[in-house]
Amino acid sequence: MTDLDLRGIDESALVALARELAPRVRGGGSIHLAGPLGAGKTTFARALLRALGAGARIKSPTYTLIETHAMPGLTAQHLDLYRIATAEELEWLGLRDLADGAVLWLIEWPERGAGAIPEADLVVRLAHAAVGRNVHMQACSAHGANWLAGFPVGEVVTSKQKVSENS
Ligand SMILES: Nc1ncnc2c1ncn2[C@@H]1O[C@H](COP(=O)(O)OP(=O)(O)OP(=O)(O)O)[C@@H](O)[C@H]1O
Ligand SMILES: [Mg+2]
Repeated sequence: MTDLDLRGIDESALVALARELAPRVRGGGSIHLAGPLGAGKTTFARALLRALGAGARIKSPTYTLIETHAMPGLTAQHLDLYRIATAEELEWLGLRDLADGAVLWLIEWPERGAGAIPEADLVVRLAHAAVGRNVHMQACSAHGANWLAGFPVGEVVTSKQKVSENS
């Protein structure tokens, strides 16, 4: 599967979606979290990190730009690029030096860091809907497509919610 579309999902379904994804991304890779202010990017990242074992209190990188979560066998780098003006501002972070070993990148506002951040294996695009949020998960690499292969959508959404899958 390369593509998964969920419509009108509530916060608990969004959290369940992130939890289902968590064991699949344990080996590391890059997830771009796109969508407007308040769409649920941090909610999704937090649920994913929590499911990976990052602990109960997960700080948002809103002010710090980057939050690092060291876990056994995996380091997660959670970025929020909302406040940067240009991708060049990311130079001082030395992201390349952080890409050592198994690293999972969770990047909010990825379009602001285009060219200076790891390219996405998976883009999770969130949008406000009349009720809850619409979520579009798009695999952008073979790695990302593996994450979505056989994804148990039925575990996440109820029959009221609209789902479509493409492969
Ligand atoms: N599926 C959902 N349905 C309804 N509300 C949600 C859903 N997911 C998250 N929320 C709520 O939306 C609000 C904003 O969520 P969040 O902080 O995760 O957004 P964000 O995309 O990270 O925003 P920002 O662009 O400011 O970083 C929170 O109050 C959260 O509880
Ligand atoms: Mg956020």
